Amino acid sequence: MKELDIALKAAEAGAKVIRKYYEKKFKVRLKGKINLVTEVDEKAQAAICKVIHSYFPNDAILAEEGDFSRTKAAERRWIIDPIDGTTNFAHGYPVFCVSVAFEKSGEILCGVINDPTRRDIFHAVKGKGAFLNRKRIHVSKTKKLEQSLLITGFPYDLDNPLYNNIPYFLHFIRHSQAVRRDGSAALNMAYVAAGRFDGFWELSLCLWDYAAGLLLVKEAGGLVKHISGRDLKLGEQAVIASNPTMYPEFQKHLKRIYAKN
Ligand code: IPD
Ligand code: CA
Ligand code: CA
Repeated sequence: MKELDIALKAAEAGAKVIRKYYEKKFKVRLKGKINLVTEVDEKAQAAICKVIHSYFPNDAILAEEGDFSRTKAAERRWIIDPIDGTTNFAHGYPVFCVSVAFEKSGEILCGVINDPTRRDIFHAVKGKGAFLNRKRIHVSKTKKLEQSLLITGFPYDLDNPLYNNIPYFLHFIRHSQAVRRDGSAALNMAYVAAGRFDGFWELSLCLWDYAAGLLLVKEAGGLVKHISGRDLKLGEQAVIASNPTMYPEFQKHLKRIYAKN
């Protein structure tokens, strides 16, 4: 698939920019109270978009930074997060990635998640499986929640009661082996696809945070749903991902907390 080659190339162009600046000096400013953006987010996004537009000049691009964040639905659209895990990047904590997905007629057809420091490249193509560094990956086989390693994240808007993750976090640390929170939703989903985490949830994501991760999890044999348990519509915010064996139990617990909040 031509789009996959371009997604891989574009993500690597972004990763190269990120590696150049990582642990060096760069400008950082605030988009919100605790929401950072660095000049590297912008430079990486420009490098990614340049590659995509040089092959597909007429395709729409939805990307986190600047005007690209307002792009509406289109027949052919690329969905990009130039650095997922900006807070980590800005602090020199090596957990962040580039996420690039290609959507056609409302469906994600391919996705790439590039971890620039570990040099891990995850990719998935609809109907063709999920891969890490070209080797096939699968979700975990963990059956019970009490045997699971879970991952979540917290939104920047901590004052909105709709996104209060604390009740979920408190609940799941008592019903799993552990819950991690490490600040990169896209990478978290790639790790669910690779079987490193058994389940993931977040209450307030943007499409660029999960477009590539969603396809990776599905193509690795996992499930991605709205937190209520119904099918997720692209663009919705409350997202869960899980291996299919543990899913019914995970969902039952999530639903209980979701209904209370
Ligand atoms: C954030 C990360 C984080 C998640 C936030 C996202 P950013 O993206 O994915 O893990 O908890 O909800 O906004 O701002 O680093 O691209
Ligand atoms: Ca993000
Ligand atoms: Ca970002």
